[in-house]
Amino acid sequence: MAFATRHFVRAASSDAATAAAKKLLIKHVTIIGGGLMGAGIAQARCSSGHTVVLVDQSDEILKKSTKGIEESLKRVTKKKFADKPEAGVEFIKKTLKNLTTSTDAASVVHSTDLVIEAIVENLEVKNELFKTLDKFAPEHTIFASNTSSLQITKMANATTRQDRFGGLHFFNPVPMMKLVEVIKTPMTSQKTFESLVDFSKAVGKSPVSCKDTPGFIVNRLLVPYMMEAVRLFERGDASKEDIDVAMKLGAGYPMGPFELLDYVGLDTSKYIIDGWHSLEPNNPLFAPSPLLNKLVEEKKLGKKTGEGFYKYK
Ligand code: NAI
Repeated sequence: MAFATRHFVRAASSDAATAAAKKLLIKHVTIIGGGLMGAGIAQARCSSGHTVVLVDQSDEILKKSTKGIEESLKRVTKKKFADKPEAGVEFIKKTLKNLTTSTDAASVVHSTDLVIEAIVENLEVKNELFKTLDKFAPEHTIFASNTSSLQITKMANATTRQDRFGGLHFFNPVPMMKLVEVIKTPMTSQKTFESLVDFSKAVGKSPVSCKDTPGFIVNRLLVPYMMEAVRLFERGDASKEDIDVAMKLGAGYPMGPFELLDYVGLDTSKYIIDGWHSLEPNNPLFAPSPLLNKLVEEKKLGKKTGEGFYKYK
């Protein structure tokens, strides 16, 4: 028995060693899209002492992204280096040195190990980008999308590297949120999956794994929950204020569902639920809400427009 156990341990550790040897050590990373999410991912990558190239459509946008990263780093270091402000200044300097920007994705992916796409949430636009990058990136390069609601499989199918394609779903605001959902399609290889898990850990995040299913884990639970809150309110069963208070004090949530909807953006929430409804029209969890549709039509999109379910001014 002792021999069998020792033998098993040796076999298991050699299996693990073989799998580890097969993993891709990700050194060179390109992030496409320097908006809210892309800039946040770039900041997390640079802060962990690694280099990154951030790509967007114009130098003006990239300047704004870099400025945003610098401001965010200042906020982080103010807390982290409260007793040693000069160490904080040094940290920001070092971190920003890890960041390079470009407006030409095709010319920077030739030496990249991982491309993370964080551009507009539109399948055709994403597929167009991946199709182009597929021609310029080396054979070994892994492609990952940060999409919240689109199918990773559909993007992978736009390329010739379905086995080197997965999802890396970060959360907003990226510098604060520890979670990354690593998405494995039926074609994603184990090597790609494990490389993405290691990458997530290297940027200081806690990865969880999910198949390529609508909303992955967090949004699949969160979006129907928020929609159910809207339906509760629409039926007149409770006020939105009371529903928010109830979920904060009764369930311990930091925000109520209506506060959260306003924070996420009502247009974004509508876009997600409409997409899922078209995939599964008979699923009552994905049914659209007349009230949400009306607010979006009136351009009351939440905090960003000054009004959603609540007024902000
Ligand atoms: P955003 O609108 O802030 O940024 C998108 C950026 O991509 C813009 O700067 C735009 O100029 C750039 N862009 C568009 N097309 C491009 C192209 N072809 N090449 C290079 N750059 C291009 O959007 P955000 O919020 O950062 O979202 C990006 C992705 O992340 C979306 O897929 C979204 O669903 C996903 N996501 C968003 C979250 C959020 O809370 N905003 C959370 C998690 C994922």
